[in-house]
Amino acid sequence: MKPTLYVEDIFNHKHEENSVITLSGWVYSKRNNGKIKFINLRDGTGTIQVVLIRDESEQKHLDEFSKLNQESSLTVTGKLVKSEQAPGGYELLCHSLEEISESKNYPITPKEHGPAFLLDRRHLWLRSKRQNAILRIRSEVIFAAHEFFHKNGFIAFDAPIFTPNACEGTTDLFEVNYFDEDKAYLSQSGQLYGEAGATAFGKVYVFGPTFRAEKSKTRRHLTEFWMLEPEVAFMDLNGAMELAEEMMEYIVSRVMQNKERELQALDRDLDQLKKIKGPFPRLHYSEAAAILEKESQDQFKTGGDFGGGDETILASKFDKPVFIHRFPSAIKAFYMKEDPENPEFSLSVDLVAPEGYGEIIGGGQREEDIKVLQQKLKNHPDIDPKVFEWYFDLRRFGSVPHSGFGLGIERCVAWICGTKHVRECIPFPRMLSRLRP
Ligand code: 4AD
Ligand code: MG
Repeated sequence: MKPTLYVEDIFNHKHEENSVITLSGWVYSKRNNGKIKFINLRDGTGTIQVVLIRDESEQKHLDEFSKLNQESSLTVTGKLVKSEQAPGGYELLCHSLEEISESKNYPITPKEHGPAFLLDRRHLWLRSKRQNAILRIRSEVIFAAHEFFHKNGFIAFDAPIFTPNACEGTTDLFEVNYFDEDKAYLSQSGQLYGEAGATAFGKVYVFGPTFRAEKSKTRRHLTEFWMLEPEVAFMDLNGAMELAEEMMEYIVSRVMQNKERELQALDRDLDQLKKIKGPFPRLHYSEAAAILEKESQDQFKTGGDFGGGDETILASKFDKPVFIHRFPSAIKAFYMKEDPENPEFSLSVDLVAPEGYGEIIGGGQREEDIKVLQQKLKNHPDIDPKVFEWYFDLRRFGSVPHSGFGLGIERCVAWICGTKHVRECIPFPRMLSRLRP
């Protein structure tokens, strides 16, 4: 047994009007006007109005209707008709109705609930319209990214999750006991392995979960998030910015094309998304710092990193995502190449989303000189250079200029959906104080 028809197919006009069809799903809501009874049937792909007319329905179907509660599961057969008043433009005139399984006292009612209440019931909250729309858009973002890279000849290249080496510094590592090796860490980024992939395949992308034991309680931070990380041999910083631009343009246009209904359900301002076409503005860190020296509320000092509020100020100057490039070397990871024109700065780049959604991409050009890399690691006494021997090999045997970046999927989805908090942009968010459900 396998369903052959979904509500989404009806809205996509894949089904003929006036035909008799069967749908299975759950009660989103129901209404009884005496003579006419309505069920909002949810099947996961959409909701459709089911109509029962008292005088025309058999008693057993009316009895089944009265048993139904919010989230009872059911199967309905009826005639599909166009209807001006019905949401979505169609309704189903019920011929027969059968409850599959009851649902008593479903905890998430149409009234307002607080975020803690909803997060505790995330396994059920996922059924609500808003969450459905957000996670469908997430799926589209991921699919579009895969499509973009495949169309452009990239290889999907999976990096390990258990790693012996820290990629993004040692302060926010999750430690795991690993047999006789004393410790492994959950990956903070697949980048270092992506670099091996780039020398083996030319251009690769890593897509997987990444972990950061960050004690940040902001709307932009998760402890487990998904990152999409292209890495390309013979690509420089400018090339990385061009690639990021093309990728973002592709992802946003795909979502607008295929998930318009979901964007509308979220009341997303589509005019904002229509503007997402390259080229994106590019600001040198020093230019960004000059703006923030005047306007920052986050006690920004030139030489330091940006806070969330700083990113919002910079983004507010533009209606497209903005690249900030060449951050001070001192505040960036050991693998960042120094700018040959001024080694105080690194060939790094962030892409900051419009409308206050903050940094969605971080990356840059990698240091290809083994001596410089080894020297830089010496500034990190907490990192054991032995675990990087394999990484140094990439510089020993035909080292080349190469670059890449990481797109945080949840932050990207939050921006595209216009959802303030990243916790709604992943099926089961993991945060500082949340491991359940
Ligand atoms: O800027 P980040 O730390 O860059 C890297 O990890 C590089 N190694 C990537 C690369 O060059 N291959 O992280 C990249 C992106 C950020 O821009 C942000 O979108 C997301 O990952 N991100 C987070 N998302 C949610 N919660 C967190 N705690 C995040 N930390 C980073
Ligand atoms: Mg970053």
